[in-house]
Amino acid sequence: MLVALIDVKQKSQPILRVFPLVGRARFLLSRLGPKLRQYVVANDNEERPYSRIDRDWVDASAQGDNTQIAFGSRTDPHNGGPTILHSTFASTGQGLTDDSESLETIRDRPLKALGTARQRRHIYQPASWVNISGMSFGSLSGPAVQGLNLGAKEFGCFQNTGEGGLSVHHQQGADLVFQIGTGYFGCRDVDGDFSLEALKETIANHPVRALEIKLSQGAKPGIGGFLPGAKVSHEISKARGVPAGVDCASPARHKAFHDVDTMLDWVEYLAAETGLPVGIKSAVGEQSFWSDLASAMEGNSRGVDFICIDGAEGGTGAAPPSFANSVGLSFARGFPLVYSEFQKRGLQDQVAFIGSGKLGLPQNAIQAFASGVDMVNIGRTALIAMGCIQALKCHTGDCPTGIAAQKGWLIRGIDPEAAGQRVELYLGSLRREIHLLTEACGVEHAGFLEPRHILDLATDHVAGGIPRFH
Ligand SMILES: Cc1cc2nc3c(=O)[nH]c(=O)nc-3n(C[C@H](O)[C@H](O)[C@H](O)COP(=O)(O)O)c2cc1C
Ligand code: SF4
Repeated sequence: MLVALIDVKQKSQPILRVFPLVGRARFLLSRLGPKLRQYVVANDNEERPYSRIDRDWVDASAQGDNTQIAFGSRTDPHNGGPTILHSTFASTGQGLTDDSESLETIRDRPLKALGTARQRRHIYQPASWVNISGMSFGSLSGPAVQGLNLGAKEFGCFQNTGEGGLSVHHQQGADLVFQIGTGYFGCRDVDGDFSLEALKETIANHPVRALEIKLSQGAKPGIGGFLPGAKVSHEISKARGVPAGVDCASPARHKAFHDVDTMLDWVEYLAAETGLPVGIKSAVGEQSFWSDLASAMEGNSRGVDFICIDGAEGGTGAAPPSFANSVGLSFARGFPLVYSEFQKRGLQDQVAFIGSGKLGLPQNAIQAFASGVDMVNIGRTALIAMGCIQALKCHTGDCPTGIAAQKGWLIRGIDPEAAGQRVELYLGSLRREIHLLTEACGVEHAGFLEPRHILDLATDHVAGGIPRFH
């Protein structure tokens, strides 16, 4: 009765003023709705970003369980999506080795090293073409970053730091790619401008193998990021080089350069000063940027060492829905446009291409390799492997699994060692299944896959066609 009286008197919720108590039931149901849909109503293939079938596969992989399914396909094979075209004569992979190195070593690493074409002082040959995508400390909790780093170390791949700087949690032994975002966290001066001295100080004595300039992210291209002051702990303030307890915003674009020409000058400056390969990460919007970049790299006097293309289906800690749903091209549409700009100028071998955007599922990764990537970066499925239940609360700080939280009582749920083991097992399962699919297509290495290996049933288009990912 008292609750009903409070409802009628309050002014912020009209529905409660008119329908006390009943209105409350509606709020409760709308809160419970997503959970009920996830566990009770939604069918196996329905949920987004990841369906139950996808999550079950990742989860079984992460636990070292049986990942197979029984009794045949659970999707309609004629649903208009892309199909992998197997070869009548599957490959055994044996032709790859001359006995100087093991078959596994050769098959697991990308065909390109970073920095070879431009002869950087510290060329980096990643051991694996499956790596961990940048997810900043701040958007993720410390134990989650540790779990990813431990998993990457044991599996033998690199972890991209994300744009939140290089924290103590990134220091569990895995190779690192240091990401430079528009906020220059971990490499900024007191005014928030880029500082070479701060960068050198941050990467000194750590296994940083390359630098990645983040231009944009598939889930929110064209806007910066925001971490509310309440989440800026002392640890985060130290990693980012910003004051604790104060809102931490990163702008929509870089201050250190303003077009392709000045960006390439900056790339060369960073590479010369650090000796490291330097690449960019971007979503795909206007195509002129990519044709300008490829044109500017003709002649080989300046150039990026790698390009990571992030699809619009990519993840984020927080983004406005209009950006997450409607800005930028999907990986499958965007990547071929970028690749073709380099291919038509004969530059595709001078750049290592990385893909991200739901590529942590083998059937998606294989399509990315067929369209020309050398490596795939894995974000959210690595979080699912660590225990993320797709509660979709990363932006609130109330992640129930502690993966995207900063509150002590929530993050105590994650044990970094156990999380690391699960990440390692999941990455192993992903790579194994990509090997199987590659062999089924009759080629010996994921880097040998071509567009002809994928048929888009929607367009009946093979070879250079643009497949759709689901
Ligand atoms: C919680 C979270 C934090 C992220 N933080 C960053 C970041 O700091 N820098 C960045 O370039 N991308 C960031 N991303 C995007 C991922 O690196 C990746 O590009 C994207 O999620 C696509 O990969 P996925 O589909 O495998 O998750 C973040 C994604 C998530 C889910
Ligand atoms: S459990 Fe939910 S809030 Fe936590 S990381 Fe996963 S999706 Fe984000």
